[in-house]
Amino acid sequence: MTLTRVVGKGRTEAMDPAELAALRNTFAKRAVDVGTGDARFAYHLASERPDWLVIGLDALDAPMGEVAYRASRKPARGGRENLLLLRTAIEALPPELAQIADEVDVLLPWGALLEGIVRARPAIVRGIATLAREGAVVNLTLNGEIWLDSTPARYEDLPLPTPGYVATSIEPEFRRAGIELGAARYLTAAEAKGLPTTWARRLGHGRSHPQFVQMNGVRRDP
Ligand SMILES: C[S@@+](CC[C@H](N)C(=O)[O-])C[C@H]1O[C@@H](n2cnc3c(N)ncnc32)[C@H](O)[C@@H]1O
Repeated sequence: MTLTRVVGKGRTEAMDPAELAALRNTFAKRAVDVGTGDARFAYHLASERPDWLVIGLDALDAPMGEVAYRASRKPARGGRENLLLLRTAIEALPPELAQIADEVDVLLPWGALLEGIVRARPAIVRGIATLAREGAVVNLTLNGEIWLDSTPARYEDLPLPTPGYVATSIEPEFRRAGIELGAARYLTAAEAKGLPTTWARRLGHGRSHPQFVQMNGVRRDP
């Protein structure tokens, strides 16, 4: 499995694992944003935490292109040397990413990532756990209401991730994978509106209080 780095709009490159190892050692801590989409949140984290390496991962590279280009520029023009964007599905991670993260974030996923969390599919849950080193924090934020008013066909049978559902149906698989999740809770309106991601903004449009369910956990050695 190769490391595929997104370097600009429609542009990817194979990344030498030695380059990743060097980058990994340059920064004291590392965060991984899984299902980063257009990488707006990853860019925000990289800007807020210049001493962290921030890695944005997504199965699709095209939406990351614009931020990848901006991050490659000089710092005065928006460049961020501590931001790395990689194309990979969470269920097919390159081995170099194992236990790389002090923090793993998954924000408002869809597709296989959403279904894998809500249905507690081992391949997805273990992918998230694989990224996290011992003691890493894992933050998962799911949209808790989109199915109420417009249900894409593929999600028709997907259970709503209420805090109760998380406790009975999601938490056990994460525990088996080595992540202890605390009780899930709905974000306040201010927290939901304040999430610096494109999908938080989209899903919040026209809603005074978008219902986002958040789970926070810690990676323990299994
Ligand atoms: C709704 S977008 C959210 C993007 C971003 N986190 C945000 O909040 O704006 C969900 C993203 O999850 C990604 N995704 C879905 N399944 C995935 C998988 N198996 N592995 C990695 N990324 C995946 C999609 O490609 C998409 O970019």
